[in-house]
Amino acid sequence: MGSRLKRQCLTVLITLSIIKSQTNAIENAKFTAAWDNFTKDPQLLHAAYSITIFDNATGNITFSFNRDLGLSPASTMKTVTGAVALHYLGTDYRYKTILQYSGNINSFGILNGYIYIVGSGDPSLGSWRWNETKGEVIMERWLKAIRSRGIKECRGVVVDLSAWPDQTQTVPDGYPWGGLGNYYATGSSALNWRENQFRIILSPGASVGDPVTLVGFENLPPSVTFTNELVTGSPGTGDLADVYLGSDCTHGYLRGSLGIDSPQNFSIGGAVPNSALFVADELRQRMQWSKSMPIKVVYRNDEDLPKLRMTLDMYESPPMSEIVYWFEQISINMYGEVLIKTVAKKLNSSINRVLSTYCTSEHGIEQTAVATRDGSGLSPQNRITTWAIVRVLHNIRERAPWFPSFERALPIINGIRMKSGFISNVLSYSGYIHSQVFSIIINNYNGATSVMRQKIWNLLNTLK
Ligand SMILES: *[C@@H]1O[C@H](CO)[C@@H](O)[C@H](O)[C@H]1NC(C)=O
Ligand SMILES: *[C@@H]1O[C@H](CO)[C@@H](O)[C@H](O)[C@H]1NC(C)=O
Ligand SMILES: *[C@@H]1O[C@H](CO)[C@@H](O)[C@H](O)[C@H]1NC(C)=O
Ligand SMILES: *[C@@H]1O[C@H](CO)[C@@H](O)[C@H](O)[C@H]1NC(C)=O
Ligand SMILES: *[C@@H]1O[C@H](CO)[C@@H](O)[C@H](O)[C@H]1NC(C)=O
Ligand SMILES: *[C@@H]1O[C@H](CO)[C@@H](O)[C@H](O)[C@H]1NC(C)=O
Repeated sequence: MGSRLKRQCLTVLITLSIIKSQTNAIENAKFTAAWDNFTKDPQLLHAAYSITIFDNATGNITFSFNRDLGLSPASTMKTVTGAVALHYLGTDYRYKTILQYSGNINSFGILNGYIYIVGSGDPSLGSWRWNETKGEVIMERWLKAIRSRGIKECRGVVVDLSAWPDQTQTVPDGYPWGGLGNYYATGSSALNWRENQFRIILSPGASVGDPVTLVGFENLPPSVTFTNELVTGSPGTGDLADVYLGSDCTHGYLRGSLGIDSPQNFSIGGAVPNSALFVADELRQRMQWSKSMPIKVVYRNDEDLPKLRMTLDMYESPPMSEIVYWFEQISINMYGEVLIKTVAKKLNSSINRVLSTYCTSEHGIEQTAVATRDGSGLSPQNRITTWAIVRVLHNIRERAPWFPSFERALPIINGIRMKSGFISNVLSYSGYIHSQVFSIIINNYNGATSVMRQKIWNLLNTLK
């Protein structure tokens, strides 16, 4: 290359880099103006909010407001939970669910012992999100395993949950009672089944104020009944129906309304109150065993249980990278609760300490900046700072070998790779825009959520 040509190339390069830095400056100014406008918005008059933007290109915080203020993060907390799962368990971690029997089988196929389902926390067991995890597929697999050993009858089904020491509390302390029983607030156990959800089929009445008809159920857990207090709502109000059903309870309430223009046989999701009974009951039905055959749920290693059990099947879940994928994409709260329970068991820690331990030991974040009550962000009692989230998101992009799995799991919303969060009067987003890492959390805004959401998206658009 001649020296004249070299000089020309150099000039072009320098010009390009000047243009680029000017563009950056313009983008920053655009953001600052948008932020000034944003903070004057009447929807934020009584709100507590924070934003942190870190740019890896400069290695600096480029903008922050209230970056050390602890706020309720809603589901944007799932970014940290996902990182915790991939860090401590690894992308290839798989849950194992074991089918066993005790006793002897006679020549008529009668087992003088029990069938055992031994859980290890698999959140995907029976889930419709993978072909191989579907309820029908797992049941077929187990039926085949039982029949191929020649077992036709047995004394009962035992669900062994002893893998997790504390099973009496299946719903995190911080979940609010309001609507506990809705599909998104389901508890978790060492044995989860069909994402611990069932469907309730409803049809609106003929006039506003009329009772809503309870048409029926799909996959109703055993022994659960409901008092239906739902009324028909005005046109356009849609699904304002809530399910109230506590963990381990057998009676629940349907409250709220369903818009008069909702379709017939409209379905809403309910939370299964005891997933261990749910799966054992389905196995009993599929084997056409009598309803009076006992189901026993064992929470701790019971002295009475036979030590000698024969294994019929060992099923392994999809790898952790795929579980985290659906966890972030669909924001499945139960997966988050299972993930922190799994890590807590591995670290011999308490579930409420898992996230803060990770933030402190792996990212040097002040322990007091992270105070969590669950793994999903559903509890309004969770607190975290945007600066803590940004440090985690930045560090894992720079260092974590599993980062590609994490990045792929984050949804693309409004053209941005980010995790959203929403609970009552809380909206939040955390993610990546080019070299920038950002987190924004708004608590206690007033007015319409959809309008607030659009305003945040407009603000984030100035970072693109
Ligand atoms: C300022 O915010 C309002 C909404 O609060 C919006 O309608 C308007 O477009 C914004 N202006 C700028 C310059 O961002
Ligand atoms: C972040 O910056 C460092 C240092 O300049 C660089 O090595 C790294 O590749 C950057 N990471 C990303 C994701 O751009
Ligand atoms: C980072 O920010 C500090 C304080 O605002 C500033 O002094 C420093 O020059 C910045 N560093 C870079 C690389 O931009
Ligand atoms: C899952 O099953 C469907 C229907 O049988 C099939 O079309 C699809 O390719 C399967 N997906 C995978 C990932 O195996
Ligand atoms: C609603 O479900 C009921 C019961 O399964 C059925 O008889 C009826 O045909 C369904 N109606 C509609 C409109 O799908
Ligand atoms: C787990 O922690 C408990 C209480 O913090 C302690 O008593 C126990 O010895 C620990 N177990 C192991 C295996 O470290």
